[in-house]
Amino acid sequence: MEDKPQGLLISPIKDGTVIDHIRAGAALTVLRMLGITGQTEEELSIATNVTSMTCGQEGKKDIVKVSNRELSKEEVDRIALISPKATINIIRDYIVAEKKGVETPKLLYGIIKCTNSGCISNANEPIKSAFEVTEAGLHCLYCDTVITTDIESHII
Ligand code: CTP
Repeated sequence: MEDKPQGLLISPIKDGTVIDHIRAGAALTVLRMLGITGQTEEELSIATNVTSMTCGQEGKKDIVKVSNRELSKEEVDRIALISPKATINIIRDYIVAEKKGVETPKLLYGIIKCTNSGCISNANEPIKSAFEVTEAGLHCLYCDTVITTDIESHII
């Protein structure tokens, strides 16, 4: 059988952000978290379930490239929650100008919607939801609810 031709799956970008090593299958969630929809105008490239070699082990990953945009800390924190091994590469004039891993924050403000409908953070008050990341799960600082499962679906 012939080998597949080798080459770049998606082109390098000139300026913007490459979110690399995203958990396989999570790229579309990352886009949703960045507010990117069919209606927005970013120049985007997405690759999902790409073969990747990390630490000598073959695995799968997703990649998202967004031109002309750098991410806020809150956006990076959201990505960390669903993909702790992601790397954020800032590209300037085709060069990787900065590369950093993501870090799961200890406190999450305005990122998670509390599952308790009676929580004050769900009462249209001018406050952001507030959660502490603990070993048991995400602990709401207003009503003490602890979210333990399916964290992804509670990201605002
Ligand atoms: N990249 C890009 N456009 C550029 C430069 C880099 O899209 N102008 C992408 C690369 O394709 C890669 C990511 O940015 O997905 C990081 O680039 P680089 O650090 O050169 O790649 P690696 O060394 O493979 O990164 P890592 O060690 O983080 O796996």
